Amino acid sequence: MNYIDIRSDTVTQPTQAMRDAMYHAEVGDDVYGDDPTVAKLEAEGARIVGKEASLFVPSGTFGNQLALFTHCPRGSEVILGDDCHIVQHEVGAASVIAGVQLRTLKSDRGRLDPAEVASRIRKESDDIHFPGTSLVCLENAHSNGRVIPLDAMAAVSQAAHSRGVPLHLDGARVFNAAASLSVDVKEITGKVDSVMFCLSKGLCAPVGSLLAGSADFVERARKKRKLMGGGLRQAGFLAAAGLVALSEMRDRLGEDHENARELARLLAGIPGVTVDPASVEINMVFFTAARAVDPEAFVRRFLDSCIKVNPPEGGAIRFVTNYWVKRSDLERIVETTRAALR
Ligand SMILES: Cc1ncc(COP(=O)(O)O)c(C=O)c1O
Repeated sequence: MNYIDIRSDTVTQPTQAMRDAMYHAEVGDDVYGDDPTVAKLEAEGARIVGKEASLFVPSGTFGNQLALFTHCPRGSEVILGDDCHIVQHEVGAASVIAGVQLRTLKSDRGRLDPAEVASRIRKESDDIHFPGTSLVCLENAHSNGRVIPLDAMAAVSQAAHSRGVPLHLDGARVFNAAASLSVDVKEITGKVDSVMFCLSKGLCAPVGSLLAGSADFVERARKKRKLMGGGLRQAGFLAAAGLVALSEMRDRLGEDHENARELARLLAGIPGVTVDPASVEINMVFFTAARAVDPEAFVRRFLDSCIKVNPPEGGAIRFVTNYWVKRSDLERIVETTRAALR
């Protein structure tokens, strides 16, 4: 059965080119440093985001948590937005793995107020009661579908760096952010000390993310990755798909954004639907319905039309476009939404 799957961009299947690359991949034991395909992916990933080195990790969550674990002494404090993935969707891992305290600031569409960031940074030596601030984090593109402009990122970078605190970017969708801002991704990643980016979302690789930063940071992260059980052996099979993701899939993300904007425009024509097409900056459309929606019936109604959707969350419905959702699929999605909300 061929489903249109708009639950997320994590659902993307690998392309045929990825399957071929995986089949033919040259591999070795990466814990011994013997896997040429992983080495190639790590070098290419670092080059693309303008960092000295990068490290292949199993997932975005793993990469973010490894970044915290590597940057932050235990008992220190991390400043970040209250709606970011590290706070909301990583199972409280920061307290378990890095052993840090998360100090959240109110985020405005993922943006942090640089003056507030500066005022919240604390030095352990300032007061016997204080933890020291060891890291500030941003997320761009944000999982709320919004993109942080370059000047807003630069202001937070300046606030952190002027107090000697490094900045980590959850860049799970950093290539979507770059496409949305029409900039080279290095314009974004140049403002941060470390960045995690996913190969397995809009870029369609089956598994994996990269954590990039200075050579010293990545060497320290490599050891901690082993501690976390992330030392993979013949990982070149996965890295081979990641290389295709980086070379073939980045430049087409704008198509997903265009489809999302068109989807928002069409959804706006359904009575009772509230959606702002101008707020669609990447591949995500968020909207609300005037009438109460039974989550189970909603999902079932779409399944009847061979469409997979998530139930509404907090009153909002999210549809995500991706490589496997074509422009010609939008009509079926919109008509099914109309029927489900009738
Ligand atoms: C912004 C953001 N960061 C991190 C992650 C975690 O990635 P993974 O699901 O690979 O752990 C996600 C997953 O959707 C995400 O949206």
